[in-house]
Amino acid sequence: MSSFIIQGGLPLNGNIRVHGAKNSVLPILSATLLNRGKNVITNCPYISDVDSSVRILNHLGCQVERQNDAIIVDSSTMSHFDIPDCLMREMRSSVVFLGAILARSGKAVMSFPGGCDIGTRHIDLHLQALRELGANISESNGNIFCEADVIVGKEINLTFPSVGATENILLTACTGKGVTRITNAAREPEIEDLANFLNAMGCKVIGAGTSTISIEGVNIDTLRGVEHKIIPDRIVASTYLCATAVAGGDVWVEDVIPSHLSTVISLMTEAGCEIDTRDDRVHIVRKAPLKAMRPMKTQPYPGFPTDAQATVMSVATCAEGTTVFVENIFESRFRHVGELARMGADIKVEGRVAVVCGVPKLFGAQVHSTDLRGGAALVVAALGARGQTKVGDLHHIDRGYEKLHLALSSLGADMKRV
Ligand code: EPZ
Repeated sequence: MSSFIIQGGLPLNGNIRVHGAKNSVLPILSATLLNRGKNVITNCPYISDVDSSVRILNHLGCQVERQNDAIIVDSSTMSHFDIPDCLMREMRSSVVFLGAILARSGKAVMSFPGGCDIGTRHIDLHLQALRELGANISESNGNIFCEADVIVGKEINLTFPSVGATENILLTACTGKGVTRITNAAREPEIEDLANFLNAMGCKVIGAGTSTISIEGVNIDTLRGVEHKIIPDRIVASTYLCATAVAGGDVWVEDVIPSHLSTVISLMTEAGCEIDTRDDRVHIVRKAPLKAMRPMKTQPYPGFPTDAQATVMSVATCAEGTTVFVENIFESRFRHVGELARMGADIKVEGRVAVVCGVPKLFGAQVHSTDLRGGAALVVAALGARGQTKVGDLHHIDRGYEKLHLALSSLGADMKRV
């Protein structure tokens, strides 16, 4: 098993480009099933969750080819409608294939995504919405069996603005009969990117990015293959901002959409960084000692993103003062706290609340990634720690960060993968 070896204390300087968004590529790869055509999707990162999605498309009978940052999917040869447990276990968010398989094949079989490192990952909202759209869904022995002769448009209210449920409704309703209207829909930028992809193939989605999305069903036979560039990964960009805040230095984070980062930018500014945004880049400078931030609660977009909670906490661990975090989205997303404590962080957790008392400096230690963003938080903390840190279980980090050690080394970090 490989590890990162990080020698802390070096500032970061230079320019770093942000790769395409993991949480946009996954649902868009699922959407390729709808158009039975040839799709060229560019700005796709080299991360293991994308590899898992490609394995699912191959299992379903699609022809998939990777050419540098492009993934070419020909879904005309799709011949299966099931996702085996081994592929579901690789990536719980494979549930985002459910709606597209059902819309294309009229049936879909997959195992329950099950729990993961950050929570139980319920899918009740997904299943309830698909039933409202006309699907018959039965569950037994940990498997979900869906079939739908006809999908009929409906008004669907989500009791929670679930990203995945919103995506599955979009993917199911696009080729249904009539109009579907989602209220309390998720507003994440990745939903907009998915809607832009769907509309480019001939679907009719209006309002993506707002709480109310209308989908006018179209005939699936009229849909055609799409060329599309994935939006930048706002969470990877946030990670680079936090890394510079902890390490100190002067960094341009490039190929971003600054409006997608506004909450994290305001927090880093409050922590004492100087930040300047341009149309597709963000300039961050940190020279003065870090200061504690106002209490923060993770919220659905555009609120403080749960995916940035761990890396912002790493900033708080070495800021002067106390910062309070409330994790409202997932029930066990503080697993990185124990590993940060091994590095000398002073953090008290009570349920969904974590109280971080800043210390002057963390010290290097041997730590293990607990989950994707928790692992990134350990890397961020190690950049500012005194001495050497060894970060293990990198498979978590590899799910969402492309060659993180090369990216940070290019900015001056002393970081190797062994
Ligand atoms: C997406 O997960 C992202 N994953 C997550 O990113 C992100 O943290 C999350 O949205 C919130 O922004 C992808 O896009 C692949 P949800 P998703 O449905 O769709 C509960 C990362 O680090 N819920 O909005 O699973 C659920 O249990 C990953 O990149 C139900 O109760 O998120 C959770 O507590 C982690 N019933 C909360 O809602 C449901 O039917 C948020 O879930 C669905 C969700």
